[in-house]
Amino acid sequence: MQKLIIYGGTPLTGEVQISGAKNAALPILCASLLTGETLKIENVPHLKDITTMIKLLRQMGINVSIDKEFEVSLTAAQLSSLVAPYEMVKTMRAAILVLGPMLARAGEAKVSLPGGCAIGLRPVDQHIKGLRAMGAEIEIEHGYIHAKANRLIGTHIVMDIVTVTGTENLMMAATLADGVTVLENAAHEPEVIDLANCLISMGAKIYGAGSDVITIEGVKSLHSTTYQVMADRIETGTFLVAAAASGGEIHLKKTRADLLDSVLDKLIESGATIQSGEDWINLRMNNKLKSVNLRTSPYPAFPTDMQAQFMVLNSIAEGTAIITETIFENRFMHAQELKRMGACIEVEGNTAVVHGVKNLDGANVMATDLRASASLVLAGLIAQGETIIDRVYHLDRGYEQIETKLSWLGAKIKRIN
Ligand code: UD1
Repeated sequence: MQKLIIYGGTPLTGEVQISGAKNAALPILCASLLTGETLKIENVPHLKDITTMIKLLRQMGINVSIDKEFEVSLTAAQLSSLVAPYEMVKTMRAAILVLGPMLARAGEAKVSLPGGCAIGLRPVDQHIKGLRAMGAEIEIEHGYIHAKANRLIGTHIVMDIVTVTGTENLMMAATLADGVTVLENAAHEPEVIDLANCLISMGAKIYGAGSDVITIEGVKSLHSTTYQVMADRIETGTFLVAAAASGGEIHLKKTRADLLDSVLDKLIESGATIQSGEDWINLRMNNKLKSVNLRTSPYPAFPTDMQAQFMVLNSIAEGTAIITETIFENRFMHAQELKRMGACIEVEGNTAVVHGVKNLDGANVMATDLRASASLVLAGLIAQGETIIDRVYHLDRGYEQIETKLSWLGAKIKRIN
């Protein structure tokens, strides 16, 4: 199993290019199921979750070609299998995103139930409820969601909770439904808008993506297009926190400040100076790091996917911070590992109280999920001495070439087998 070794203490300084967003690329890859024509996707990040999704789509009969720049062309002329097997869904929950488009296009889909995962239960009841409301017959059998529908029918759906992939699944399904679908209490995340824009350029009629209510007028068929995936706001935020916590200065290219206002606000509150342009962000940290309270919530509020990274920042900041996690019920596993590095953190239910200490000490730590691994990398970068991170495969699911990018910024980091 691969590990990362980090020698901490170097302020990160320099320039880095941000990759395409994993959480936008995954649903956009699934949108290829909605048409027999070719969908060409640019700025796809080179990540484990993306290769898992491509493998899944290939085994359904989609023809996938990938060029040197990792631009991906997908043609779903015919679907040879309508099954997303357990082996794939268990490694990547986002595989649930094939359910809506496959059902809408082929009239049938069998997708393994994702089950629980390290950060919480994460049910998919809202995906199922929405598809049933559109006329699908759905049975849960042998751990699989088995859905059938001759043609989905447009309807009014009020989602009980805000769910990102739930909104995306239903929006994709509704593009080929008979009539108009209204999704109320929809997720506002920029990745939902990016998917909607891709679908619109494939001929879908979607209004209101990014707001509470999304209206989709079903069409008979969608067609080919070329679409460029948006920048990854979580990778952007992770690098900004790395620079702030290490006391450095960083210039990020190919990203957008308006994707992460809540995160930038917290960085400014922590003492950073931030400037931005149309496709770049610059962060300089020459003040004393101050602790910042935060509460995770659906977009545009503070993202749960940035909570672990800010726990690291708070662990060496002046003062005490209260972090409240409202999206996932078990998303503080990194706290235990950070405590092994000298952080002073008390966890009580969905709240963590972080008392800033002078510095962290390098230690052997274990990654437990994607964003928790990112937080351990950040901790290693600011700690004194050597940190060895085990189970880095979690990191490879969501960060493209992280150690190469960090090395460009002066980090002392290497991967070993
Ligand atoms: C997506 C992101 C993930 C991010 C999360 C929250 C992708 C591929 N992943 O995950 O990185 O952390 O949004 O911003 O885009 N829930 C239900 N029933 C459902 C669906 C969700 O109860 O049918 C609950 C979940 O358990 C969770 C909350 O709703 O507590 C939000 O989850 P959701 O927005 O669905 O997360 P994902 O789409 O899985």
